[in-house]
Amino acid sequence: MKKGQILVVDDEKSQREILKVILKTEGYGVQAAGSATEALRMAEEESFDLVLSDLKMPDNDGLFILDRLFKINPAVCIIIMTAHGTIDSAVEAIKKGAFDYLTKPLDREELLISVARAFEKLNLVHQNKMLQEQLSERFGLSNMIGNHVKMQEIFKTVRKIANSTATVLIFGESGTGKELIARAIHYNSIRGDKPFLAINCAAIPDTLIESELFGYEKGAFTGATGRGIGLFEAADGGSLFLDEVGDLSLTMQAKILRTIQQREIRRIGGREEIKIDVRVIAATNKNLEAEIQEGSFREDLFYRLNVISIGLPSLAERATDIPALTDHFIEKYNQRSDKRIKGISRPALRLLLDYSWPGNVRQLESTIERAVLLCEGETIETEDLPQEIRLKSFSSDRIAFDIPPQGFSLEEFEKELLMKAMEKSNGVIAKAAKLLGISYRTLQYRLEKFNIRKEEDPLVRSILPMQKGK
Ligand SMILES: Nc1ncnc2c1ncn2[C@@H]1O[C@H](COP(=O)(O)OP(=O)(O)OP(=O)(O)O)[C@@H](O)[C@H]1O
Ligand SMILES: [Mg+2]
Repeated sequence: MKKGQILVVDDEKSQREILKVILKTEGYGVQAAGSATEALRMAEEESFDLVLSDLKMPDNDGLFILDRLFKINPAVCIIIMTAHGTIDSAVEAIKKGAFDYLTKPLDREELLISVARAFEKLNLVHQNKMLQEQLSERFGLSNMIGNHVKMQEIFKTVRKIANSTATVLIFGESGTGKELIARAIHYNSIRGDKPFLAINCAAIPDTLIESELFGYEKGAFTGATGRGIGLFEAADGGSLFLDEVGDLSLTMQAKILRTIQQREIRRIGGREEIKIDVRVIAATNKNLEAEIQEGSFREDLFYRLNVISIGLPSLAERATDIPALTDHFIEKYNQRSDKRIKGISRPALRLLLDYSWPGNVRQLESTIERAVLLCEGETIETEDLPQEIRLKSFSSDRIAFDIPPQGFSLEEFEKELLMKAMEKSNGVIAKAAKLLGISYRTLQYRLEKFNIRKEEDPLVRSILPMQKGK
């Protein structure tokens, strides 16, 4: 994009021609307009990166052309050319957003430097925008897997609340995707092009958290040899993610509460109150209500953070998402390790579906990462999975059931049992009948009664209530 498109606007023909020649020689694409009206028409028809415009033209009253050009393309860069003695309007132009001004008669060197600087700036803006788009894409909801109703509801909430400044409290077991949701909220909001900064409040001493969050003035403490800007200030206009907020000391809780309420901070050792505009998103894997009971978490801070609360389900609760997550991670680690694994075998997926996943999505992700590395063929097999998953899964060598707390009907139980038997026998009725100790005909009759078809894929059917959370 270095050598971009320039529009030269001047009512003096000779001036236009000279500028065209100079800039074209430098490799820029140049077009010229002889009046403000013509310039605006051209700017509407095609997109120019830079407009080099005289201010004094018969059909242009002062800075009128500037306003109109910005309206047509807010990203356009404008350099103003003025005659001697009209510095006032040049200053006014800069205030209105012009990039630079040059005085006539123009100096060739000065002109080229100014134009080059303008393109440097345009390049930066462009790069920034691209980076921003990459980030939004990476952390957008489209990269989060979750077909389970609870996840769908969460995604809906994220879209709904992204643009407000309300604080959000995200809770859920470790590895359920709390940070991912926090980023999705930020990058889906109008704050998305401002910083998203994060601090992990667990296992950092108070003094460090304080200087990280609020910054400090020179000499505030030994070692503070200069001024340090804290995260609240650095995230201005954006979002600050307080991870593991349940681990904050009561003292820090009080300071953060004050900051959120007053929307201002004071640097350590500083006197001045500094206004901040930051959206706070907090996360915890602790039960804050219990912490409040115990006196280790401030109730007022809890209510201040919990304006919007998002509770992420454990992976076991949304086991129906395991196949899609597995595919997603196979794809991700295929790319990382330059492998071409096509998928996972049914028995291996069965093991994943039956495992309890105490480390949730993060544990599933590392399991798949490891499996992709170990896998020698095109498909991940049971032997590519860790021992504990192979052993702990209950369907590995027998059919096992737990009675769920809410109970269930015998009919449901029977249906589940039949489906499991069919699944274990890969849909072969004779085998399943043998497993259940009943005759082929009895099983066939029962299958019809429950409307279980042979081709029904047990791996994709939804999990029945008896397998839900313990
Ligand atoms: N819905 C999802 N879709 C795809 N990947 C996910 C999803 N949820 C979590 N992950 C992945 O799982 C890993 C853990 O997610 P994240 O760090 O957001 O969890 P967390 O709840 O913050 O965990 P912890 O409490 O341990 O900090 C990350 O690598 C993340 O990319
Ligand atoms: Mg986290």
